[in-house]
Amino acid sequence: HNMAYSDRVVKRFENVLKNPEKHSVGRFDPEDPNIGTGMVGAPACGDVMRLQLQVENGIINDVKFKTYGCGSAIASSSELVDMLTGKTLEQAEAVTNKQIAEILDLPPIKLHCSVLAQESIAKALADYRRKDNYRSSDG
Ligand code: FES
Repeated sequence: HNMAYSDRVVKRFENVLKNPEKHSVGRFDPEDPNIGTGMVGAPACGDVMRLQLQVENGIINDVKFKTYGCGSAIASSSELVDMLTGKTLEQAEAVTNKQIAEILDLPPIKLHCSVLAQESIAKALADYRRKDNYRSSDG
């Protein structure tokens, strides 16, 4: 059977492999109150994605990720960096796995890779908001 990756997936994936740091592979301090960390595993394949959002005044300033997974999952993470940088938390929350899958032209068998990406956003936002609530209740 033919499971060829789309050109866009291949390009993203290759760029990340060639120059990971330039393409936002890395880690922010998860204890930093301005960082939201989302770590998600896909039961279907065992792949894992960690997405971190750096937030200032309600805007996502910077994004880093580390994805132990297939080419589609790595390409999805890389796509997220561009989709989320400069966006509000509400805009980030509105990103759907369908959008990611469409941009990357993922075949049905690879849809869960984009679900992984979407769930990592949700978890990262929840982590950030939890810290933010704590901070505001702290005065
Ligand atoms: Fe599981 Fe892609 S095959 S995340």
